[in-house]
Amino acid sequence: MKSVLVCGAGGFIGGHLVRRLKREGYWVRGVDLKKHEFAETEADDFVIGDLRDQSLVREVVDRKFDEIYQLAADMGGAGYIFTGDNDADVMHNSATINLNVLDAAYKRNCKRIFYSSSACMYPAYNQEDPDNPNCREDSAYPAAPDSEYGWEKLFSERLYLSYNRNHGMESRVARYHNIFGPQGTWDGGKEKAPAALCRKIARAKSGDSIEIWGDGEQTRSFLYVDECLEGTIRLTRSDFTGPVNVGSEEMVTINQLAMMIADVAGKKIELEHIPGPLGVRGRNSENTLISERLGWSPSQPLRTGLENTYEWIERQVKANAPAAA
Ligand code: NAD
Ligand code: GDD
Repeated sequence: MKSVLVCGAGGFIGGHLVRRLKREGYWVRGVDLKKHEFAETEADDFVIGDLRDQSLVREVVDRKFDEIYQLAADMGGAGYIFTGDNDADVMHNSATINLNVLDAAYKRNCKRIFYSSSACMYPAYNQEDPDNPNCREDSAYPAAPDSEYGWEKLFSERLYLSYNRNHGMESRVARYHNIFGPQGTWDGGKEKAPAALCRKIARAKSGDSIEIWGDGEQTRSFLYVDECLEGTIRLTRSDFTGPVNVGSEEMVTINQLAMMIADVAGKKIELEHIPGPLGVRGRNSENTLISERLGWSPSQPLRTGLENTYEWIERQVKANAPAAA
């Protein structure tokens, strides 16, 4: 039986990935600082441990895994990575994880390793026009990400590509564009816009207003988690190193996103624009390369993924509501 290691298996994408790999018949070891918050893991072996600790990493990478997926990172949405308050932790924690995991994989001869980079590594100067952002893979340099999170991703991309060139590692690097879906962080400060807006709308009554950071005219695209897994697995098993975008090209403003969720919820919602951490003004995935190299593109519109996600977050909101007196 083929064996796989999923680093960050207690997180959002890692949790979904473990489930999919089990369905495919793999033996799966997961590792994370914590258990998954919203579901029992399906991993055959789940190690609670800190991937910043080199000796722990060497214990976890104890065999020649057929595939390693490195998803562990100190990360969050705009409210976490654009305030500046978490910069030192984000850079130190995520870079240390990547240095440890990649080197342990190399030393155990685990050749095939996937790394989850981010669209946040693209230069800010190409993402100022909300209608025409440029996130083509070859627009990455001269580098000028707008966050330390993005700089760490860029450093780690280069690390994986260096091990590919110098040590023959079959590194595979994807640049994820805002992934969303059920069983992701939806409260507490690390949630991204789709989950935050689903939560706010689930808590609102028809006719209420919800708060939106900024004027809401900033643009993004959002990719449903199942689509992300398909792109991730295809890339990992291909002969293409990347880096390559894994995202949706269905760009919307944050105001449009909010209105789409309100429509899914069947509520009339007003928007109140308030100051908040914003990030780049416009961002959209550019999928020419991935569609040429892997024949992949998202199969469903944004709204379909939002329907599943809203339903799940609405259930969390109801389950967590204070009991009526
Ligand atoms: P997540 O925060 O849900 O999962 C990351 C997991 O890593 C968490 O469970 C966390 O506990 C774990 N982790 C952090 N530090 C660790 C450590 N020292 N040792 C062991 N585990 C540790 O995030 P996610 O949304 O599942 O993202 C997965 C990966 O994809 C991350 O690398 C992230 O940067 C990248 N990414 C995600 C998105 C997105 O929109 N979700 C976009 C771009 C890139
Ligand atoms: N999180 C959040 N919560 N964002 C809001 C809210 C809110 O209540 N209201 C408006 N926004 C706006 C933010 O100000 C930002 O301009 C936009 O919605 C998108 O915010 P996020 O979804 O939090 O993050 P992002 O798209 O800027 O960056 C995310 O995607 C990257 C990959 O594309 C982050 O998750 C990064 O970690 C990730 O790498």
